[in-house]
Amino acid sequence: MEKFVIQGGRPLSGEIEISGAKNAAVAILPATILAKDRFVIENVPDIRDISSMLQILEVMGATVETLGPNKIAIDTRGFVSKTVPYELTRNLRASYYLLGALLGMYSHASVAMPGGCNFGGVRPIDLHLKAFQALGTVITTDGGVIDARAPRLVGASVYFDKVSVGATINLMLAAVKARGLTVIENAAKEPHIVDLANFLNLMGANIKGAGTDEIKIEGVSELHGCDYSIIPDQIEAGTYMVAAAAAGGDLTIKNVIPKHLEPITVKLRECGAGVEEFDDAVRVTASGRLTACNIKTLPHPGFPTDMQPQFTVLLTMCEGVSVVTDSVWDNRFRYVDQLVRMGASISIEGKAAIVTGVDRLKGAPVRADDLRAGAAMIIAGLCAKGTTEIEDIIHIDRGYEDVVRKLRGVGAEISRVDFPSPTAGAVKRA
Ligand code: EPZ
Repeated sequence: MEKFVIQGGRPLSGEIEISGAKNAAVAILPATILAKDRFVIENVPDIRDISSMLQILEVMGATVETLGPNKIAIDTRGFVSKTVPYELTRNLRASYYLLGALLGMYSHASVAMPGGCNFGGVRPIDLHLKAFQALGTVITTDGGVIDARAPRLVGASVYFDKVSVGATINLMLAAVKARGLTVIENAAKEPHIVDLANFLNLMGANIKGAGTDEIKIEGVSELHGCDYSIIPDQIEAGTYMVAAAAAGGDLTIKNVIPKHLEPITVKLRECGAGVEEFDDAVRVTASGRLTACNIKTLPHPGFPTDMQPQFTVLLTMCEGVSVVTDSVWDNRFRYVDQLVRMGASISIEGKAAIVTGVDRLKGAPVRADDLRAGAAMIIAGLCAKGTTEIEDIIHIDRGYEDVVRKLRGVGAEISRVDFPSPTAGAVKRA
């Protein structure tokens, strides 16, 4: 078992390099199933969700080779399986993309329902299944396994009555080789949707409109391998932006697409932080206490729900009262209990958190309830007076590459510590 130990109160100064986008990579890697060929993929983040996805692909017959830092080759010519058991999907929410990719390739998929971040509530996939059905798929579920099969997938017009990243991606994966035209209405517009569309088009697909709410996919009969570089991680970048605003300092965050960060940039400026944009970097400066502001999460290009816990930490120390509303997920405030233990003043009213700024948080033992809640605990620890210990950091390792090295490089005092070993003394690792 490992935990993070943070001595708070140090400003962050210097440069941080952002890794490839987790939520793009977890869609692009299963998309390689759609061709029997070799792919070279760069800017692949070195995080647990990616190693889980690569492990699944390998067990199913693909060959994965590391070509260099964050660069891999995937060869799917030996890919054999259409079945993914629960032992492989349990740790990875995005394993549901194997349904769309296998269906798209073989018109048959059998995938155990995934695990991953739960936020304490149910995460339905009814929209994914309805979309597959619209393409002519028959779906049965038995013992937590979804079996989806069709004689031949046929393009269709699908209107999502709720914007869903996962359902949009899964339908794209299933439809690229279907017969005829598929039109996705009310599609998600997140940067990773566009990245997946670019990847699939390089493979020979015919996808138009990704990044708007109407995506048109004309099915093609063959796809092939390609070389690709994954976009930078919008949420990792946003997390460090907010960390700099909360802890104070002067932080340049490199390898980003500033346009993707705009909803975060706008809100940080509203709170009084300085944000300067460059071609592929942003610089965040902050000193002293910032001002309260209201946040409402929405699908892209709105404020991302995956930044909600981190931004809430910043607001706990801002002057005044802020209202944080999560309109994407019902149950994403579980982490608030941990912040209250650190001295934050937050009450939950329905889908909103009412945050009254306090002068300073105080270090405490806390846990990472899920990936972004864990990132929020790190930011809280960086700002708090005294020591913060974060347990269950396995969630943070799912989505943040080298977080300790990156933060130490800009002045934070954070270590990864093995435990329990109270008698022998904890073993510190850089
Ligand atoms: C993706 O999850 C991300 N995960 C999540 O990031 C992110 O929070 C979410 O999109 C919203 O931006 C990945 O990309 C792997 P949705 P996803 O389908 O696709 C409801 C992180 O921290 N819904 O867009 O599962 C659902 O309940 C993770 O990196 C249905 O009702 O989210 C939610 O209220 C956590 N039926 C809303 O839609 C469905 O079939 C949006 O969910 C599907 C979703």
